[in-house]
Amino acid sequence: MAMISIENLHKSYGSQAALDGFSLEVEEGELMVLIGPSGCGKSTLLKCVNRMVASDSGSIALAGRPVTDYKEELLRRGIGYCIQEVGLFPHLDVYENIAVVPRLLRWPEGRIRERVDRLIAISGLSAGHLRKHPRQLSGGEAQRVGVLRALASDPPVLLMDEPFGAVDPLNRHTLQAEFLKMQKELKKTVVFVTHDVDEAILLADRIALMEKGRLVAVDAPQGLEARLDEAFIGDFLGSEYPLRLLGRYAVKELGLCGNGAEGGPEGDALRLEMEPGMTLKDLLSGLIRAEGDYVLVTTPEGRDIRLSFSDIKCLMKGARR
Ligand SMILES: Nc1ncnc2c1ncn2[C@@H]1O[C@H](COP(=O)(O)OP(=O)(O)O)[C@@H](O)[C@H]1O
Ligand SMILES: [Mg+2]
Repeated sequence: MAMISIENLHKSYGSQAALDGFSLEVEEGELMVLIGPSGCGKSTLLKCVNRMVASDSGSIALAGRPVTDYKEELLRRGIGYCIQEVGLFPHLDVYENIAVVPRLLRWPEGRIRERVDRLIAISGLSAGHLRKHPRQLSGGEAQRVGVLRALASDPPVLLMDEPFGAVDPLNRHTLQAEFLKMQKELKKTVVFVTHDVDEAILLADRIALMEKGRLVAVDAPQGLEARLDEAFIGDFLGSEYPLRLLGRYAVKELGLCGNGAEGGPEGDALRLEMEPGMTLKDLLSGLIRAEGDYVLVTTPEGRDIRLSFSDIKCLMKGARR
C-alpha cells in the first residue's frame, strides 16, 4: 500500500484551476521530487495533503486512511512541513524552534532534549547553534533549522516546498548532500518540491513532473531520460538532461579499476582529486577542460587512474544499469 495516495484531485481558486485531476502514489520511505513550472500547482498540492487547503474533489489517503478522517491538528503534527521562507520564530532560540511541535505534543523535557541532540548530530549544525536566535544564523543555517523543526516529532511524512530555494548555489549543494545523508538514515516518506532540475536529479528516487495542475510523468531520473521525446517532458527537462543526469552518479561508488589504465605519463595531463562528491559530470567536465585525450584521477589511496572519453562512456553505461 502506498504511503500517500492522491487520486484525481481538483482545486480551483475562482475560475483558476490550480489542480486539475492530479493523481500520484508515493511509497513508504520514498523521496518523491515534484517538479514543474511556476504556477503549475506544486505548493497547492502539498497544502492539500496537510489540509492547509481544502480540495474541491478527489481524494488523498495517508497510510490507507483519507486525510479528511484525521483531526486537522493531529494531521499537521504528524506531517513535517518546511518551506523556503523557513518561518522560524524570531524570539525563540534554535533549540526552542526545533522543539515547537514536541512541546505541543507535551513530550517530557528529557525526550525533547534527546530528540534535538540527535537531530543536531545528523545535521550540519553543532550544539553551539542551539542557543542562537534566528537573526544570528546564516541563510543556510536557518534552512537547516527549518528542516530539523519539521523532523522534530519524527513524523513519517515530510513535505518540503522548495526548502533550499533561497540559498546560494554552493551552500545549496551542501544542504542537498546533508539532506540526502539524513534521508538515508531516517527513511521518511518525502514529497520535495523544486523547480531546479539538477536538485531533482540529485535527490529523487522518482521525479513527478507536473504541468497545469496535472501529472505528466512519474519516473526514476534515468527513466525520464528515455522519455525526452514525449510532449512537455523534453521541453521542461531540456536537451541537456542526459548531461545533467551524470551529476547523480558519484565516481567513488563506480569503482574505477578496470576502466582506464593505471598511471600514465607525467606532465601536462589534467589531474583531478577524487573527492567524495565527485560525479561523472565532474569527470566529463574535467575531460572537456583537459588539453589531451584523458584526465588523471587520483584516488583517495593515492593511485593515479587515466581515463579517456571511452573509459568515461563505459562508466556511464555501468552507472545507468
Ligand atoms: N491563495 C490563492 N488564491 C488565489 N490563487 C492562488 C492561491 N494560491 C495559488 N493560487 C494560484 O493557483 C495556481 C497554482 O499555484 P501554486 O500551487 O502556488 O503553484 P506552484 O507552487 O507550482 O508555483 C497559480 O495559478 C496561483 O496563482
Ligand atoms: Mg510554490
